[in-house]
Amino acid sequence: MAGAGRSRGIGMSGASLEDQVASSLAACPNPRLAHVITRMVSHLHQAIREVQLTQEEWEEGIRFLTDTGKKCDASRQEFILLSDVLGASMLVDQINHSGDDGSTQTTVFGPFYDGLQRVIPHGGTILLRPEPGVDPLMVQGKILDTAGQPIRNALIEVWQTAPNGLYDVQDPQQPRGHLRASLNSRDDGSYAFETVMPVCYPIPMDGPVGGLLRALGRSPWRPAHIHFMITAPGHRRLVTHLFLADDPHLQSDAVFGVKDALIRNADMQSDGKRLMLADFYLG
Ligand SMILES: [Fe+2]
Repeated sequence: MAGAGRSRGIGMSGASLEDQVASSLAACPNPRLAHVITRMVSHLHQAIREVQLTQEEWEEGIRFLTDTGKKCDASRQEFILLSDVLGASMLVDQINHSGDDGSTQTTVFGPFYDGLQRVIPHGGTILLRPEPGVDPLMVQGKILDTAGQPIRNALIEVWQTAPNGLYDVQDPQQPRGHLRASLNSRDDGSYAFETVMPVCYPIPMDGPVGGLLRALGRSPWRPAHIHFMITAPGHRRLVTHLFLADDPHLQSDAVFGVKDALIRNADMQSDGKRLMLADFYLG
C-alpha cells in the first residue's frame, strides 16, 4: 500500500474521482441530467477538498440529511425548509422569475402549502374559527396580465399562520383548513377575502433544520406575510407572499424571501377592519 496516502483522489485509472464520476455518466440518455449531476458533483468534490472534510463530519452530514428526510411527511417538508434557509430556494426563484416581463415578483413556496384548500366566495373569510384579539383584515385587488388586462377565473390560493405563529398543519388545536382557502377572480379580475392580520413567526425549530440554525446562531424569524399561489390558463403560475410593512424582521428573513415590491400597508378602516390592497400581474 505504499504511496496510498498520497493518492489525493486519483483512482486506479489515474483519473481524479471527479473525472471518474463524470465519465460514469457517458451513457446517460438525459443530457440535462448528466450536465446537472456533473456540475453538482464537481462543486461537491471541490467543497469537500476545500474544507478537508473529516470522516466524522461526513457521518454527521449523512445523519443530518437522513433526519431531514425522516422529518418529512404529507404536511411537513423539511427539505424545502433546508433549501429555504440556505438561500437555495430564492436563488432558483431569482434565476427562473426575473420579473422583467412586468409580472409580480415571486418568492419562496415554503413548506406549508396544503392541497386541501376549500373554495370560498368573493369576499369570504379564510378563517374556520374566530381569532379574537387580532385585527380583521380585508385583502383585495385584481388579477391582471402584464398588459394590465383583467384575468377572470384565476385560481387564487392563500395560506397564513394563526396568531400563534403556527399553520393549521403544524397545530392540532386548529381546525384543518383554518387560515387557508382558494377563490376565483371575477370577470373584472377582482378578488377579495377576509382574514386576520398576519404575524411574524419562527420557522419550525423542532427538526434538523432548526437544530442547524441553532448551531449556526441564526435567527429563525420570518416577517409577517400571507402566501399566494395564483394560476390561470395561458399564464405562468405565480408563487409569492405579501409582507406586512413595518415588521421588525423584514431585513432578516430566515429564508431571504423579502422583496420590496411585495411589502404592503394594512391601514385601519372606518369599519374596524384593516385593508391591504394588492394587484397581481401574471406573466
Ligand atoms: Fe409562511
